[in-house]
Amino acid sequence: MKPIYLIGFMGSGKTTVGKALGEQWDIPVFDTDEEIVKKQKMSINEIFENIGEKGFRKLETDMLTSLSSSDCIIMTGGGIILKEINVQYMRENGTVIFLKTTIAEILRRLEQDQTRPLLKGDKKKNALELFERRKDLYQAAAHIIIDTTNKSVIDIIKEIENSLK
Ligand code: S3P
Repeated sequence: MKPIYLIGFMGSGKTTVGKALGEQWDIPVFDTDEEIVKKQKMSINEIFENIGEKGFRKLETDMLTSLSSSDCIIMTGGGIILKEINVQYMRENGTVIFLKTTIAEILRRLEQDQTRPLLKGDKKKNALELFERRKDLYQAAAHIIIDTTNKSVIDIIKEIENSLK
C-alpha cells in the first residue's frame, strides 16, 4: 500500500483520525509538524519566530518528501496545500484524503489553542481569512473528500475504508 496523506485545515481532526487509522490498520503514523519539531528541537511557534513562515514552509516540504513512501499514514500541516510541489508529490506518491470540516467546528475546537502561529491576534478573523483562501486548494488536492461533520472517529474511519475499496 502507498502512504495515505491526511490533509485539511488546522483543527480538522487529522491527528486524531490519523492515529486511530494507524492503530486500526496496524501501520506507522507520521506527522510532518511533529517530525519537524523533533528535528529542529523547537516548537512550531519558535520556528515561525526564528525563520518565519517561508522558512517553515521549506522545512515542511523537505520533511514531506523525506518521509516513508510505503504503508503508513502521514498527517500534514494545514498549509501543506499552499505549495504545488507538495500537492504533486503527495498525489503521485500516495492517496490524499481531505478531512472536510466546517469553519464553525474548527473555530470551536481551536478556541483555547495557542500553538498555531498563523492564528495569533484576532483568531477568528485570521482563521476565516485563511479558510476562505484555502478551501478550494484542499478540494483540488484530494483524491478522496470525507465530510467529518457530526461524525465520530469510527464513522470517519469506516468511510475512509469504503472510499478506498
Ligand atoms: C499551519 C498548520 C499547522 C502547522 C503550522 C501552519 C497552517 O498544522 O503546520 O502552524 O498553515 O495551516 P495543523 O494543521 O496540524 O494545525
